[in-house]
Amino acid sequence: MTSAEVPVEAAREALRALRVEIAKAVVGHDAAVTGLLLALLCRGHVLLEGVPGVAKTLLVRSLATALDLAFARVQFTPDLMPGDVTGSLVFDPGAAEFSFREGPVFTNLLLADEVNRTPPKTQSALLEAMEERQVSVEGRARPLPDPFIVVATQNPVEYEGTYPLPEAQLDRFLLKLTVPAPTRDEEVAVLRRHADGFDPRDLGALRRVAGPEHLAAGRRAVGSVTVRPEVIGYVVDVCRATRHSPAVRLGVSPRGATALLATARAWAWLSGRDYVTPDDVKALARPTLRHRLELRAEAEMEGATTDGVLDGVLAAVPVPR
Ligand SMILES: Nc1ncnc2c1ncn2[C@@H]1O[C@H](COP(=O)(O)OP(=O)(O)OP(=O)(O)O)[C@@H](O)[C@H]1O
Ligand SMILES: [Mg+2]
Repeated sequence: MTSAEVPVEAAREALRALRVEIAKAVVGHDAAVTGLLLALLCRGHVLLEGVPGVAKTLLVRSLATALDLAFARVQFTPDLMPGDVTGSLVFDPGAAEFSFREGPVFTNLLLADEVNRTPPKTQSALLEAMEERQVSVEGRARPLPDPFIVVATQNPVEYEGTYPLPEAQLDRFLLKLTVPAPTRDEEVAVLRRHADGFDPRDLGALRRVAGPEHLAAGRRAVGSVTVRPEVIGYVVDVCRATRHSPAVRLGVSPRGATALLATARAWAWLSGRDYVTPDDVKALARPTLRHRLELRAEAEMEGATTDGVLDGVLAAVPVPR
């Protein structure tokens, strides 16, 4: 079925069904599932933060399965080379010439595990592919598949030998989603499933409930979600206010403001509306903006957090009626 044939309502229903389907494998993490879906609708990339063992990998694999996307995972290490990500020219002795061997970026959903463990050169290769949706080797551009989304995990626990992504590069991720530790009840539910025979390596129980054709129809529909001038003004005011917060060294860039508009629109559509409300903007402000703020070192030492700053901004900026 081509995307032209998928009615908008059917696309929305199919994409919403992803949450229920993924819940067959993953306990909780609803907000992260929604965030990943919004990123796919906006053609953006995601930073996924959470301590080890909270099902980040399981979540992303489940999404790929339920949405019928090709999936690849790369573990970023200190010795990973750019070509290990993008692909490279290899000599083919039979044909006596070089041919291009595609790297793992040639997929729909790339899980880039622990990007902060690899040196800047390899990080840059990934970021370039994310931005340009193509890989250039020896002067030839090779387009990446569509959809193409990178979900990059960062270990929040600092340890030696890491290369934190510079602020300018964090700005290129549409959303930063945090995967929290489970509540006791959730953890009990996880263990119940394991006791009942659930094997996280085998996602055979997950069905394909949506596919790229639903995403394509959704993207088109998001493009016709309307935004009143007052709501655009609100997005701008929220972003500008971050630049004046005393705890902030570097506020949200205009690119961040466009990102907030985009995620709020996609959220409005997913919620069944064809217009954006200030509440949509509020709902997406934290995940869209939290990685685009740099706090002052003193403020951080006094316990300030980016989410705290954003909450303060949202409480202070007048909301249009
Ligand atoms: N919320 C959860 N729902 C279902 N299973 C869970 C959940 N949390 C943890 N698990 C179990 O823990 C296992 C480890 O999860 P996974 O490998 O996806 O974690 P991770 O966050 O990717 O860890 P790492 O940072 O080490 O890569 C899962 O395979 C699953 O069995
Ligand atoms: Mg993992």
